[in-house]
Amino acid sequence: MNRPLIAAEISEATLAQLRKAAEEMLKRAYAPYSHFPVGAALLTGSGRIFQGCNIENAAYPSGLCAEAVAIGQMIATLGPMPIRAAYIACKGHSPAWPCGSCRQRLNEFASPTMWVYTATLAGNPQRMAFSDLLPNGFGAVDLQGIGQ
Ligand code: THU
Repeated sequence: MNRPLIAAEISEATLAQLRKAAEEMLKRAYAPYSHFPVGAALLTGSGRIFQGCNIENAAYPSGLCAEAVAIGQMIATLGPMPIRAAYIACKGHSPAWPCGSCRQRLNEFASPTMWVYTATLAGNPQRMAFSDLLPNGFGAVDLQGIGQ
């Protein structure tokens, strides 16, 4: 029987830690071209938090999104881990959801019940299940048995 996957709740205390970690990154963001700083914090299944900020480049397409940098931090520190939740903070007038490329990047490590939170500095994050942000995503399973 197919049961819907129910995401485990993130405690208020953990959410507060995630928010702090993401907001901290806004100060580190290097966004001299867009003036749109973004901070990301990822909570792994093992309870670790990894942070990233956007890093722009004069050659615009070479810039990195905050989520990509946070994933890089996780991989460089710990290796691949299931991501339980992501918190995105921006200074914009309304919360920003991860861009299409970052949804794909997150898909690589997303736990089946991952939550995505997004908020401005005012807090009050909006929340969505990652599977609703990227339904029918392309992933490792699609490559199984190919080219071997
Ligand atoms: N940005 C992110 O860091 N994450 C996203 O998911 C959306 C966009 C950054 C990229 C660029 O530095 C700035 O926001 C404006 O697009």
